Amino acid sequence: MTTQLPAPTLHADPRTVDLVAREFPPGFQWGAATSAFQIEGAWNEDGKGESIWDRFCHTPDRIHGGHTGDVACDHYHRWSEDVDLMAGMGLKAYRFSISWPRVLAQGTGPVNEKGLDFYERLVDGLLERGIEPCPTLYHWDLPQALEDRWGGWRSRDTAKAMGEFAQAVARRLGSRVKKWMTINEGANAADRGYGLGKFAPGLQLPRKDVLGTRHNVMLAHGHASRALRDTLGRDNVEIGFVHDPWPTLPATRSVEDVELAKKRFRRTAGWWHDPVWLGRYPEEEWNEFGCDVPDVLAGDMELIGDRPDFMGLNLYSAQRVSATRNEGEPWMRQEAMRTDFGWYVEPDIGYWIPMFCKEMWNPPAIYVTENGCAWDVGGLDDVWRTAYHREFLSSLAQACAQGAPVKGYFAWSLMDNFEWAEGFSKRFGLVHVDFESLERTVKASGNWYSRVARENRIFDMGQGQKLA
Ligand code: NOJ
Repeated sequence: MTTQLPAPTLHADPRTVDLVAREFPPGFQWGAATSAFQIEGAWNEDGKGESIWDRFCHTPDRIHGGHTGDVACDHYHRWSEDVDLMAGMGLKAYRFSISWPRVLAQGTGPVNEKGLDFYERLVDGLLERGIEPCPTLYHWDLPQALEDRWGGWRSRDTAKAMGEFAQAVARRLGSRVKKWMTINEGANAADRGYGLGKFAPGLQLPRKDVLGTRHNVMLAHGHASRALRDTLGRDNVEIGFVHDPWPTLPATRSVEDVELAKKRFRRTAGWWHDPVWLGRYPEEEWNEFGCDVPDVLAGDMELIGDRPDFMGLNLYSAQRVSATRNEGEPWMRQEAMRTDFGWYVEPDIGYWIPMFCKEMWNPPAIYVTENGCAWDVGGLDDVWRTAYHREFLSSLAQACAQGAPVKGYFAWSLMDNFEWAEGFSKRFGLVHVDFESLERTVKASGNWYSRVARENRIFDMGQGQKLA
């Protein structure tokens, strides 16, 4: 575990970002993120219903190594130890998700009070230790009952049911939670689940149907937002919509490269951000999809387009583009490092994407709701992960210094966990989890990050160095 590794070269590209800022604005929120299915386990305890991910994992040949979320990190039973860990790391906020089938086993109907008890214990435990609870309502674990009854996201009824779920959660936790995220990465829920078949429920439907599931996911965001605002009062909640752009960044800062990168970025991210922030789908893409476009009914866009209070960005990797290279087509920077997933490390995503989003949609606030890397190299002495976060944060600090309204950062992930189709084979955690003993150990990156959180600035740190 103490292998000496050279610090990798994965710096932000000085050709495109000035890296002078080291400090973050006062009150910047430092946190870490997880999701229910990836850490909780206890898949059939205390009245929890089956989710589409439970079913998917229990189907042969769907998940790497036949891994399942049955136990995962056993957070359902070890939540208190995990909250202590976060407090020890000096984290100020925790992004987690609430399992819909734990709260409504059949997706609608009777509320499973024991499921809500769990989240109430967690929220209270966080607050007692000065950590802000920031729940996401939907992080891909749809109740299987809704898949069976209505075809899951193929149906507008599922979107409507999300309002019922949000209301049940809001009634129990609303007096103690202010920041809510509705949907996590709708594109993955829709496209990978119903188009590529790589995620639950594992379907490969025609494009028209997939675009329909996308629209229903957007509607679910609308129903959940309305339920939260109606139940708790508009002024008492801050609602965020979380999207994961895999954008194109400019290869240089020439005006031509930057404009081209923006245009490309808008074309992919616009389908998700335009409805939410501008109340309409982008015209160009809409026309391009021809007769495959989703059926939009009267009132849909008003529901979806009731602007959120913040934009959540999950930022991982990117391509490059230049007006003078590769005929204007994007490419992956071959000289960039790659994580265990093969994702190219492009830290200046932390500068460009908040800047682009500010210009395009002008959200009142932006949170980086996820950023992190899958690397097992170094084990507990994970100097590469430290370098990854440090370089990303240096470009994010620059975006803040230049006026992007970034208010917080959630590292993905608090701990190693169940990485969907990859099972437990990819480790993103600041905290190591031994999946046999379930023992948790803070990695060097976790120690480095805790100092960042305490001091509100980035700094260099020798590998494996422990907190003073
Ligand atoms: C985004 C997803 O929200 C999260 O669940 C996943 O583990 C990370 N990306 C890494 O793939």
